[in-house]
Amino acid sequence: MPRPSSVTLRFLAEPTHVNFGGKVHGGAVMKWIDQAGYTCAAGWTGEYCVTAYVGGIRFLHPIGVGELVEVRAQVIHTGRTSLHVSVDIYAGDPKSATRNRSCHCVVVFVAIGAQGAPTVVPKWIPRNDVERALEAHALRLNELRKSLDTEIEDRLRWLDQQPPALLERE
Ligand SMILES: CC(C)(COP(=O)(O)OP(=O)(O)OC[C@H]1O[C@@H](n2cnc3c(N)ncnc32)[C@H](O)[C@@H]1OP(=O)(O)O)[C@@H](O)C(=O)NCCC(=O)NCCS
Repeated sequence: MPRPSSVTLRFLAEPTHVNFGGKVHGGAVMKWIDQAGYTCAAGWTGEYCVTAYVGGIRFLHPIGVGELVEVRAQVIHTGRTSLHVSVDIYAGDPKSATRNRSCHCVVVFVAIGAQGAPTVVPKWIPRNDVERALEAHALRLNELRKSLDTEIEDRLRWLDQQPPALLERE
C-alpha cells in the first residue's frame, strides 16, 4: 500500500479550547499543528518522529467555539532523516461550506529508529508543478532558517556571558 503523504484532521472547536476573549487560544492551535504534523510524518515514515523545528507560525484568522476545524498536513520535502511538513488550518461554520485559512506553518520532524537515533526516511518526490513549488518553498525556508539559527545561537551565547543581575528588572 502506498504511504500517505498527507492527512486532514477534522473536529469542532470546543469551549475548552477558548481563551478569555472567546476565541480559540494559540496554544490549542499549536497543539493541533503538532498533532496533524506528527500523524503525517509518522504515516509517511512508518517511524516515531520528533518535532525538530516549527517555523513561522502565522495566525491569520481567529477561530470561534463551535466552528468546524480542518487541519491539513502534507509532506513537502524529505532530507536524509528529516521531513518538512506544511500545515494549514481552516475553520468555519459547519452549516456553511465556507472555510477561512486560520493558520499556516512548516514543521520539521526527524524520524527516530529503534535505537533511539535519527533514522533514514523514505524519499518524497514531487509529482507535479504544485508539489515542486512546495518543495522549493521548503528549501528556501531551510536557507532562511540557517541564518535565523545563527542569530539565535549568537544571542544565547551572549546572554550566557551577562551578569545575572543585569538580566533581571524589577
Ligand atoms: C531533533 C533531534 C533528534 C536531532 O538530533 P541531532 O543530534 O541534531 O541529529 P542530526 O544532527 O543527525 O540531525 C538529524 C536531522 O535533523 C535535522 N535537524 C536537526 N536540528 C534541526 C533544526 N533545528 N531545524 C531543522 N532540522 C533540524 C538535521 O538537519 C538532520 O536532517 P537530515 O538528516 O534530513 O539532513 C534532537 O535535536 C532532539 O531530539 N531534539 C528534541 C526533539 C523534541 O523533544 N521535540 C519535542 C517533542 S516531540
